[in-house]
Amino acid sequence: MKVIVTENFAESCKLVARRIADIVKEKPNAKLGLATGGTCEDIYANLVKLYHNEKLDFSDIHTVNLDEYIGMEPTNPLSYRYYMNHNLFDHVNIDKANTYVAGGMGNVEDTIDEFRAKIYEDGAPDFQLLGIGVSGHIGFNEAGEQLHSLAHVEQLDTTTIEANARYFEDKNKVPTTAMTMGVGEICAANEVWLVASGASKVNAIKGLIMEPYVTPHNPSTVLKLHQDATVVIDKALAELVGYKG
Ligand code: GLP
Repeated sequence: MKVIVTENFAESCKLVARRIADIVKEKPNAKLGLATGGTCEDIYANLVKLYHNEKLDFSDIHTVNLDEYIGMEPTNPLSYRYYMNHNLFDHVNIDKANTYVAGGMGNVEDTIDEFRAKIYEDGAPDFQLLGIGVSGHIGFNEAGEQLHSLAHVEQLDTTTIEANARYFEDKNKVPTTAMTMGVGEICAANEVWLVASGASKVNAIKGLIMEPYVTPHNPSTVLKLHQDATVVIDKALAELVGYKG
């Protein structure tokens, strides 16, 4: 696992957007595994800039997203489908038919079957983008006694519900269940980049880059088993976790 320390969060976002743009150039029909969350908003904003400046072509790019809340209409501004349209897909020449975000409203079992199939359709993703939760979750794979390899339904951790509450006016409406790719599917991508910033991520990042264990109590640690995983943190977070390179 490679760790990159940048000057600040803005630089982290630029760096990761640069890597995605390069993949789009190198492989015009690449399949990208995408993520949501506050951390990724600026990555997509940078990617949209690169799209315009470097005339990137997304017309044959395929995407599959990590997760979606159960019970969330795709038109709801808090759904991850809406997030992806709003932050990226509406601003580049991607064919939305080539983008997949699991539907939050259908029959859950059918959706999970569809989701699992989509992850491997025409091959696993070339690239997977990840943020990280306070508990070390990736996608919505929460910390616990065991990890799911495949896409499944996850009961969200209280730390996740609290972190997500900032987006909801009515705190009682914060979703408590979601569908997520499993850790095996996440690690099936050719190349994985995880981006983290901020003091709330200190414990999760410590477990990932400072400790030698792979543990379900910090799901992000599965990246230590991946052959091409990169963790991008900024100087401020590196100092907080005591990472010196
Ligand atoms: C959500 C998403 C994760 C994301 C995490 C961190 O729970 N399911 O994919 O990594 O939030 O979000 P943020 O970047 O806002 O801290």
